[in-house]
Amino acid sequence: MCGIVGYVGPKDATPIIINGLKRLEYRGYDSAGVAVINNGQIDVRRDAGKLQQLVDLLGKSPLTGAPGIGHTRWATHGAPSARNAHPHVGNTGKMVVVHNGIVENFLELKEELGAEGVIFNSDTDTETIVHLAEHNKAAGISFEEAARRTFKQIEGANVVLLLSTDEPDKIIAARIGNAGGIVVGLGEGENYLASDIPAILEHTRRMIFLESRQMVVLTKDSFRIETIDGEEVKPEIHTIAFDAVSAEKGEYRHFMQKEIHEQVRALTDTLAGRVDFKEGRIRLPELNLTPELAKRIQRIYITACGTAAYAGMVGKYLIEKIARIPVEVVIGSEFRYSDPIVDENTVVLAISQSGETADTLAAMEEGRKKGGIVWSIVNAIGSQAMRVADGYISMQTGPEIGVASTKAFTAPLVDQYMLAILLADLRGVIDEKTRRELVSDLRLVPDLAGRVMDSEADVEKVAHALKDIKGCLYLGRGINMPIAYEGALKLKEISYIHAEGYPAGEMKHGPIALIDEEMPVLCITPKDPWHEKMISQIQQAKARGGMVIAVATEGDDLVKNMADHVLWVPEAPWMLSPIITVLPLQMLAYHIATIRGLDVDQPRNLAKSVTVE
Ligand code: AGP
Repeated sequence: MCGIVGYVGPKDATPIIINGLKRLEYRGYDSAGVAVINNGQIDVRRDAGKLQQLVDLLGKSPLTGAPGIGHTRWATHGAPSARNAHPHVGNTGKMVVVHNGIVENFLELKEELGAEGVIFNSDTDTETIVHLAEHNKAAGISFEEAARRTFKQIEGANVVLLLSTDEPDKIIAARIGNAGGIVVGLGEGENYLASDIPAILEHTRRMIFLESRQMVVLTKDSFRIETIDGEEVKPEIHTIAFDAVSAEKGEYRHFMQKEIHEQVRALTDTLAGRVDFKEGRIRLPELNLTPELAKRIQRIYITACGTAAYAGMVGKYLIEKIARIPVEVVIGSEFRYSDPIVDENTVVLAISQSGETADTLAAMEEGRKKGGIVWSIVNAIGSQAMRVADGYISMQTGPEIGVASTKAFTAPLVDQYMLAILLADLRGVIDEKTRRELVSDLRLVPDLAGRVMDSEADVEKVAHALKDIKGCLYLGRGINMPIAYEGALKLKEISYIHAEGYPAGEMKHGPIALIDEEMPVLCITPKDPWHEKMISQIQQAKARGGMVIAVATEGDDLVKNMADHVLWVPEAPWMLSPIITVLPLQMLAYHIATIRGLDVDQPRNLAKSVTVE
């Protein structure tokens, strides 16, 4: 997903834009650029590679002026190169654009514009936007009207920022569909645009989130938001709670390491204001859940992608066990095309850190279309998945910058546990004693997580032992089976070592053939109802010469005497154990990747939020 920053005000735009783009580096990119209006002319600097290349270029050839727009690109159409980097200027040199998303009808537009003599200088779909805008402007209409017409002519999910030398006091931007968000930051005598909050948080906390098919005309002193069909919009102005520091690494080497350790506070924060320990009750007001609605729910689909989907797999165990409602977990990219059986008594619960994942948003739309009740568990404030839902639970973990998701995995585990208790309570399927016990167990979570953080040095030692492995099997059972998938994904996505999560009980049906001295096996073996089964799993792996790394409960001598390495965790109530067993696996993947000298926060080929199909 690309990074976008815009500035309109009395200061030079370039340093504000560059600093903002630096805060979006985690979104993944392969080229970057910035454009300003200076003395009535558009001036652009752009280059392939990391943001530092652009900074070096600007050092040699500075840019002054405002307004300005900047962009870090994650290539979709056209290889990463200077000529394909944004911003793109039109043939008249009077307009310039940056863009996130895909212009699905760009080939037809390119043909029409080419037939009118427009010269294309890149392989991107983005370039068609600025040529189309100049073409529209040439009809003698205002910049705003030309932009509006352009927004209606491009198809697909897109976020667009435009500048025009004819009206150099404004930036016009639009959001169409789910191509990532666009935030309007309101300053004093200056205003900002960004694709994500951290880019402009140091300048302002007052923010407006554009909805799909909305556009903004932004000057240094004013903003006007309308739909691209011309209806005025009275936007909600949010005041962002977390501070700019939370979008910094602090004393940690990587955002990922910081966010692993932040989970102690994030788990506390996701409980904040929702748990009445005295009465043993849960409150989730943003869910808009009434007793009538709770009673008529007959099934729940949980839909998400990647790590979020694995969090949903744990949620299935929790909701079925506590609330006795059938739950099916379907990944977003499948749900949207599976013609799911949804009616007015079906909940479609989406889980998403960014709230902008295209497959997950499309799954929510599918649930909506079929008349379902659409809920979401989301981290990014004001994101699409938070706004389009009938009710939501905010993860409340603060921004998650590292591409490999950590705190946005454990927080939804707690959120689904709380949801299960609330549903059970409203449906009358749980007695007060059980409810109080389940609620009381939540009190343990932050402290148990904190104790695992203290074992990081031990985990790092195991990472050194595993740093040259060629692959790894992660095995789990029951409520910890999804942790096998999540632990394997963490290793894959940041260390590039192939790892496979697998239900331990399935090994004897084929995959056990993989196990030998070259194939280590990681067995998630806490004291939970499946502990004994996992012990025999370890025996089976050892019998075939496999190195065994076990996640085990402190004091478990049986595992200690069998496994080659043990990642110890404190004893936890079994329904909350996945929150704890995943932590050493996050740290293990982090340290293996770091030892291998890899870019942990920006793994190759990945982006923090996948806003395209
Ligand atoms: C997890 O570490 C990955 N970054 C990826 O699987 C991620 O969880 C997935 O893309 C879903 O993102 P979301 O939670 O923002 O929807």
